[in-house]
Amino acid sequence: MEKNPYQPIEAKLLDVITETSNIKTFVLQPLEDIGFKTGQFMEVTCPGVGEAPFTPSSSPFIKEKLEFTIMKAGSVTAALHDMKPGTILGLRGPFGKGYPLEDFEGKDVLIVGGGVGLAPLRSLLLTLLEERKKYKKILLNYGAKTPNDIVYKGCVCGWCEIKPTLDVRLTVDSDDNNERPKGCGVGLVTTTCDDLPLDPKKSIAIVCGPPIMMKFTTLKLLDCGYVPKHIYLSMEKNMSCGLGICGHCMLDKYFCCKDGPVFTYEQLKDIPDIWA
Ligand SMILES: Cc1cc2nc3c(=O)[nH]c(=O)nc-3n(C[C@H](O)[C@H](O)[C@H](O)COP(=O)(O)OP(=O)(O)OC[C@H]3O[C@@H](n4cnc5c(N)ncnc54)[C@H](O)[C@@H]3O)c2cc1C
Ligand code: FES
Repeated sequence: MEKNPYQPIEAKLLDVITETSNIKTFVLQPLEDIGFKTGQFMEVTCPGVGEAPFTPSSSPFIKEKLEFTIMKAGSVTAALHDMKPGTILGLRGPFGKGYPLEDFEGKDVLIVGGGVGLAPLRSLLLTLLEERKKYKKILLNYGAKTPNDIVYKGCVCGWCEIKPTLDVRLTVDSDDNNERPKGCGVGLVTTTCDDLPLDPKKSIAIVCGPPIMMKFTTLKLLDCGYVPKHIYLSMEKNMSCGLGICGHCMLDKYFCCKDGPVFTYEQLKDIPDIWA
């Protein structure tokens, strides 16, 4: 019998990790198989409240557990933030195309994240590190508002230590109490793209974060010499079905849920109000 795409599978909440004052990571054990490609998203159901789209932040190579890093924004996310381990949630998906890893092979990879936008990028990074030989240099540039807003603090500091496998640049917008980790600068995330140790003509850039951050990072990357087809952006439009049916997520001619959520800037650059 064909599976009903609107019927979530059950997933047990194993653990909740507090990342910052408004961001938590949820560790889920799906009670049926639900594999995904890095960059694809799923609808997470909070029973009695509703569902919302999130991109797994864990490695797709680990099948038995999935992690989602979620910022409190409204009704579903607030209810999720109150959930305790042992609760049964729902999962639908995976949806969308994810990152085209085959296009990244043999190239330098620059990853630029802002705030909770590091969630899908963490999944991507773990995927790239799993098959490290396929890629040349990997550079992770991450910006948060303050040191207290840095997500995955333990991992991020660990990643800083694994040079030359991975080069990490961290920055915070401000640091009034001088609490930032070793090596972390002060300035907007675009400043981490100054003096890049790679050739933009032979590398690709992947960006995820709030719309304003994606806008200015894209402009900076173009300025550095990246061409639009080598800049990959995660577009988080409001979604409902996830199946290319309801039309909630239309982005000009594209269904964000089906054709995205990852697009090249080449695909998006002529669409008006793309950063709204
Ligand atoms: C493909 C995709 C992947 C995502 N991945 C993550 C993730 O990994 N972690 C994470 O924290 N968030 C992620 N989001 C955003 C997340 O889906 C929204 O924060 C969530 O839907 C809000 O639901 P809510 O019921 O709590 O808020 P609501 O009560 O629906 O809305 C609260 C506020 O958030 C705004 N909002 C609602 N949906 C979205 C949206 N999709 N994007 C931006 N603003 C929205 C509303 O306009 C309103 O101002 C993703 C969104 C998409 C489309
Ligand atoms: S969410 Fe329904 S068409 Fe994309």
